[in-house]
Amino acid sequence: MPNIHPKTTPIYQTSVFAFEDLNALELYFEQPGQSYMYTRYGNPNTDELAQEVNKLEQGAGAVVTSSGMSAILAAVLAVCKAGDHVLCAEEIYGGSSTLLSQELTRIGIDVSFVPPADMYTLSAYVQPTTRLLLAETMSNPLLQVLDIAKVAQETQRQGIKLVIDNTFATPILTKPLHLGADLVIHSVTKYLSGHSDVTAGVVVCKAAEDLQRVQRVMMVYGLNLSPFEGWLAARGLKTLRLRMKQHSNNALAVARFLQQHPAVEQVWYPGLEEHPQHMLAKAQGQGLFGGMLSFRIKDNAEAVNRFMQALPSIPFAPSLAGVNTSISYPLGTSHRALTPEQQQKMGITAGVIRFSTGIEEPEEIIAELETALAAV
Ligand SMILES: Cc1ncc(COP(=O)(O)O)c(C=O)c1O
Repeated sequence: MPNIHPKTTPIYQTSVFAFEDLNALELYFEQPGQSYMYTRYGNPNTDELAQEVNKLEQGAGAVVTSSGMSAILAAVLAVCKAGDHVLCAEEIYGGSSTLLSQELTRIGIDVSFVPPADMYTLSAYVQPTTRLLLAETMSNPLLQVLDIAKVAQETQRQGIKLVIDNTFATPILTKPLHLGADLVIHSVTKYLSGHSDVTAGVVVCKAAEDLQRVQRVMMVYGLNLSPFEGWLAARGLKTLRLRMKQHSNNALAVARFLQQHPAVEQVWYPGLEEHPQHMLAKAQGQGLFGGMLSFRIKDNAEAVNRFMQALPSIPFAPSLAGVNTSISYPLGTSHRALTPEQQQKMGITAGVIRFSTGIEEPEEIIAELETALAAV
């Protein structure tokens, strides 16, 4: 092999690594992190991604997983066993609440949902078996902002762990571990990878014991990420800071435009001064508010259809956080599994559209919206 020094990490697209002899095998066990054995246990590409995310979140270490969902699963299973109880913010990604209420309950992990008004006083919800609270920095889809330092004081008082889903904010805006969270999870599928071509997740831990548990759960349950996806995500991550600035600046311009448009009845964006947690969002987000916003037109699916059909190029794609703007429809996608009462209670009605602002020029995005809103 010539003596080559690639500038970027090559893709180690292999499921297994060879050992020279039994001594090399022993070294693998004696000196963890010095060599590799089997990609489900570790791979240079997924390790690179974990290290880079950990640097940004400033934890004790991170574990990457096959999706955001498996990151949440790994975090919960690392801390809980059958007979335990978890708390979950009521306003959360629909998949997270479904995982807890419809799947983990089947293996004996009970869940209670905490409404936004009670997030900072948990006494009425905490049981002797409660182990953790799961909440989002900014809720999906209505962008309610959590005061992480305040909720962390309460979880510490209650002796439970705080697990923050930081997908919408990213560590560029907010570092939950600094504010008292114990574990941070991301759907790396979203901003961290950033180009809508990866499905991945990550768990970042503050404590070494939690990190060991998450690592074990990832390996034993087989929740690992593939090397190629790890490589793609690590490449995307290199531009995270730049992208988040542009996403945030564009989203603010879009929110201001929507706010004054007669066809728009409500806009949810923490960067607007009218947003109930605007000051908190400003302080917690280093002056940036992210690329996600939601707005409501007429509460009528037909009007939403007309709007979607009239958008010249922005696609209706039920994900978010890519470099290209896209829209989604929470009632029919991310929050479809909720009961109509839950949807109504959260404010997810027929006219609510979630808007993932890309990094195009803001005028281009606004021109598209102008065209589509005229059709409503
Ligand atoms: C806030 C949030 N957390 C977690 C997830 C789950 O991530 P994934 O789709 O990568 O499994 C999503 C997916 O949309 C999300 O929006």
